[in-house]
Amino acid sequence: MQEVTIHDKTFEVLIAANDIQQRVAQIAADINENYAEKKPLFLGVLNGAFLFAADLFKNISVPCEISFIRVSSYQGTQSSGKVKSLIGLNMDINNRHIIVIEDIVDTGDTMQYLLAELAQKNPASVKLATMVFKPEALKHPLQPDFIGFTVPPDFLVGYGLDYDGLGRNLNDIFILKNNA
Ligand code: IMP
Ligand code: MG
Repeated sequence: MQEVTIHDKTFEVLIAANDIQQRVAQIAADINENYAEKKPLFLGVLNGAFLFAADLFKNISVPCEISFIRVSSYQGTQSSGKVKSLIGLNMDINNRHIIVIEDIVDTGDTMQYLLAELAQKNPASVKLATMVFKPEALKHPLQPDFIGFTVPPDFLVGYGLDYDGLGRNLNDIFILKNNA
C-alpha cells in the first residue's frame, strides 16, 4: 500500500514495515547487550507505543519485565495551559533500570514531564526508546537513547500513530502528502 486516505487527508509511505522491523531488532540487540544483568523494566506509553513495545519486547532475550503507563493531558482551568498526569504506574521502580518505550517524540512535552516524574521515584537508571524522533519540533533539552527513525516535523500515521483515532493499525509509517 503506497498511499492511504484517512478522514480528509492523504498520506504516503515514509518507512516500510520491513525497515521498521529490522530497526526494532537492532535496537533490541543493543538493549540485550547492555542490560544482561539489569533485569530492565520496560514502560510502554499508551496508546501509541503498543505496537513498538510488543515488537521490541519479542526481540528482548535478557530477563525483563514490562508494564504500561499513560500520560493524560487535559486543559487546566488556569491560562498556564495543559496539565499532565501520569496514570497506571503500579510498580515500584525504586532501584530499577527503566526503559521508556514511546511512539514519537515531537515537541518533547510528554517526555519532559514523564521523565521528571519517573526520576522522582529513584530508579537506578532511565533510558528512552522512541520509534520516531522529530528533532526539529523539539522544545526541550532531551535526547532519546534509542531512536528508530529521525524524521522531518511533518504529521505521521501508522504503526501505532493515529490521525484522529484512525491509522494505528497500518504496518508502515505514513507521512502527510505535501499537496494534501
Ligand atoms: P509531544 O509533542 O512530544 O509531547 O508528543 C505528544 C504526543 O503527540 C505523542 O506521544 C503522539 O501521541 C502525538 N504525536 C506527535 N506527533 C505526532 C504525529 O506526527 N502523528 C501522530 N501523533 C503524533
Ligand atoms: Mg504517544
